[in-house]
Amino acid sequence: MVTGVAGLIGSHLARALLERGHEVVGVDDFSLGREANVEDIRAHPAFHFHRANVIDPRAMEQAAVGATTIIHLAALKIPRYDGYLKTLEVNAKGTEAVLECARREKARVVFASTDDVYGKNPDSSFGEESALVLGDSKVNRWAGAVSKIYGEHLCFAYAESHRVPVSIVRYSGIYGPTYQLSNLSGPQDIFIYAALTDQPMPIHGDGTQTRPFAHVTDAVEATLRVLEAPYAEGEVVNVGAADHLSIVNLAYLVWRLAGARSRPRLRFVSYTDFSRGYEDPRHRRVDTTKADCLLGHRPAMDLMRGMQLQVEWFRQRLDRIRQANVGFSLEDQG
Ligand SMILES: NC(=O)c1ccc[n+]([C@@H]2O[C@H](COP(=O)([O-])OP(=O)(O)OC[C@H]3O[C@@H](n4cnc5c(N)ncnc54)[C@H](O)[C@@H]3O)[C@@H](O)[C@H]2O)c1
Repeated sequence: MVTGVAGLIGSHLARALLERGHEVVGVDDFSLGREANVEDIRAHPAFHFHRANVIDPRAMEQAAVGATTIIHLAALKIPRYDGYLKTLEVNAKGTEAVLECARREKARVVFASTDDVYGKNPDSSFGEESALVLGDSKVNRWAGAVSKIYGEHLCFAYAESHRVPVSIVRYSGIYGPTYQLSNLSGPQDIFIYAALTDQPMPIHGDGTQTRPFAHVTDAVEATLRVLEAPYAEGEVVNVGAADHLSIVNLAYLVWRLAGARSRPRLRFVSYTDFSRGYEDPRHRRVDTTKADCLLGHRPAMDLMRGMQLQVEWFRQRLDRIRQANVGFSLEDQG
């Protein structure tokens, strides 16, 4: 069972699992994900889709019947703009519902956590044992990390009390083809859309903050290895890229790859303009040595190639939309 199957990682993972001959039950409520992401696999005989909310224990109980492994990806993102309470609710109760299903079905759980749990840790690179350093509780944005840390603990508590086998994957900076575009999308998608439609690229703060970037094909490959490796049970593994860039350099890269003819158009947005008391970690460098050693996984897609593919994917999508003569804007998530 894959929760959050209509999202970025979920849709690519479900496709890969079906290709490997697995039967896949997908769960999503389309709150962030899109039907278009799973359109190509909806008719697959081994794919069974449940439109359900992960915090609904009865719907989850029905969907999980017979599940041997549950990959729990369904979650709401960092509440940058709104959705403070909902993030806590969905991420905490959803994980609890999933773990209850796993206990009942004697299934294994792979829980999708995030590099955001390292928060304000000032270290130059984060290994899985690094301290999780969060900010003030009055700053909403930490609710995402708090809910994921709670989820990690709940997994280990179910492992201890109910013998549910669990693995934690801390994803960082995953991007790839997905029919979701909103102000919650990753910076690469927002920049690509801006560059291809000749608009300024919005940069939060001064843009010198650095982030890791990893292509979804690598995230899927690492997740499959976690699923297939018995020794990944009880482990926390960082899954992300060895590639890091400052946000402003990412904007330059995207602008060039998009083939823009003018100088890069950057629009700097102050944090106070979009959120009260937002805190953005300055540098985020994730150490993926454990994934390499434990799983034998090294990201195969380098940043330049991955971004080039992403720009091409967006360009084709925009061309199709333009040919169909329908409007397209950042608010249009289709
Ligand atoms: N993409 C990344 O860079 C990244 C980084 C860190 C962590 N993660 C984690 O990995 C997981 C997947 O990330 P993603 O990038 O694919 O996100 P995504 O937003 O594309 O997918 C999440 C999916 O969960 C679904 N969902 C949300 N609430 C739900 C609910 N109550 N019931 C049912 N479905 C619900 C959404 O509709 C969406 O399809 C998430 O848990 C996320 O926190 C991702």
